[in-house]
Parts: sequence; structure tokens; C-alpha cells
Amino acid sequence: MEVLVFENKESGSLYAAQVIANKVLMNNSINEDTVLGLATGSTPIDMYKELIDINKKGVSFSRIITYNLDEYYPMNMSSSHSYHYYMHDHFLQHVDIHEENIFIPDGEIKEEEISGFCEEYEWSIKKNNGIDIQVLGLGLNGHIGFNEPGASKNSLMQKVKLSDETRTATIPHFGNKENVPKQAISMGVRTILDADQIVLMAWGKEKAEIVKECIEGNVNKNVPASFLQEHNNVTIILDSGSASRLDKSRISQVETKLS
Ligand code: F6R
Repeated sequence: MEVLVFENKESGSLYAAQVIANKVLMNNSINEDTVLGLATGSTPIDMYKELIDINKKGVSFSRIITYNLDEYYPMNMSSSHSYHYYMHDHFLQHVDIHEENIFIPDGEIKEEEISGFCEEYEWSIKKNNGIDIQVLGLGLNGHIGFNEPGASKNSLMQKVKLSDETRTATIPHFGNKENVPKQAISMGVRTILDADQIVLMAWGKEKAEIVKECIEGNVNKNVPASFLQEHNNVTIILDSGSASRLDKSRISQVETKLS
């Protein structure tokens, strides 16, 4: 794992956006699509701002294809709580991506259609030759996507139950816990690990403990993010707060970008 520590989330987000932009530029120059796996939540918001800026400055996103990690279930697409809304609001409506290249799990489908939908989503990723770069945030309990503690390393996209901790962390967005959905549709751990490259960002002291477990702890299903240790192209982008619990004896493996 490559672990990069930045002074703050703004500089870390700019770096993450540049990693993506470089891939897009390279693929644009050889007329190839760039397939991105995208996350929602508070963590990638600044990265999306930087990507919008990069797009305005001339890097075309007309050949990017995006697959979002997850969506609450059930959830109306038009709801301001939906990840559909979030993605259009924070990123998609501001760039020159083609509508038909946007894939976000559908929180409106009928219960009995979910497994077919998930199979098609996985198949669609494969048809586009897999995800080039998967962007991840990190849950306080170590979840990636909505793969909660206990998730299998080989899980594929499916309907999942949200843990109590995840639902509690989401209360500020929904007003009260009763309003927080109990389920979601999420890419599986295997779907995530199948990406060519993974970029995980985490900001702030409150993530410091789980960042340490993810990077330094044993690989185990109680911390799904620890499965990333087994992937050969992962970049972890941290700020000084989220990196603050990392073992000093391993600090040589950490490129410090503090200015
Ligand atoms: C969001 C997602 C989640 C979040 C995680 C961190 O699409 O899949 O795994 O990345 O819950 O959320 P924030 O960024 O709000 O701390």
C-alpha cells in the first residue's frame, strides 16, 4: 500500500483528482474510455470540486464511465438524501460526462428485481473492461462501500443491511435515526478489489484509529478495509489528523507531504 500524508484534506483531494485526471488524459490520448468507481459521503466532496475545475480547464470527461459504489434502499432518486442526487449535485451535472455513461445503483427497484439488477451492474463493469480507478472513503467501522464488518472478501454487489454504527453516523443527514434507511445496495468487496487501482481517502482525527487498523492491522473481515492490503495497487491519501495514529516505526513507508 502506498500511504501519502498531506497537510490537509484540500491538498489530499487535489492529489486524488490529479491521479484521476492523469489517467483520463492518458486514455483520452489513445481514444480509450476511463472507467471510474465513485464514492459519496463527505470525504470525496473536495476531490469532485477539483475534478470539475480540471474539466473546466480542458480535460474532457466525455469518455469517462462512472459506477457508483452504493445507494440506500429503498430510496427515491429525486430525494435529496439519495446518492443519485448527491452525485449530480457535487459532480456529474457540472462536467461533460455523457448521461448514458453514468451508473448508480437504483434504490427504487422492486425487492425481487435487486439480484438481477446487481448481476447486470457487475456484468456492465466487466463489459467495459473493469474499473480503472476505484475511489473509496472509509467508514468509522472500517466499511468500504456499504460492506460492513463481517462482509466476505468475495462478496459481489448485493442488498446489504446497514450496521447500527453506520446508521448512527448518518443521522445528521436524515434528521433522526428513524429516517435513516436500514438497507442499501452496494458493490461487494470483490467488486472493489477487482479494480485495477484503488484510491482511498480519509480525513480528520476521528478516522485515525480505523485508518491504523486498515493499514497496520491484520487482514480480517471485521475491518473490511483491511482487505485492501491484499490489492497490489492501492494509494491511501490521508491528512495529518487521520494519519496521527500510524505507527512511527513504519513511518518510513509513509511519504510525508507536509509542507
Ligand atoms: C459512500 C460509501 C461509504 C463512505 C463512508 C465514509 O458511497 O460507500 O463507504 O465512503 O461511509 O463516509 P464519509 O465520507 O461521509 O465519512
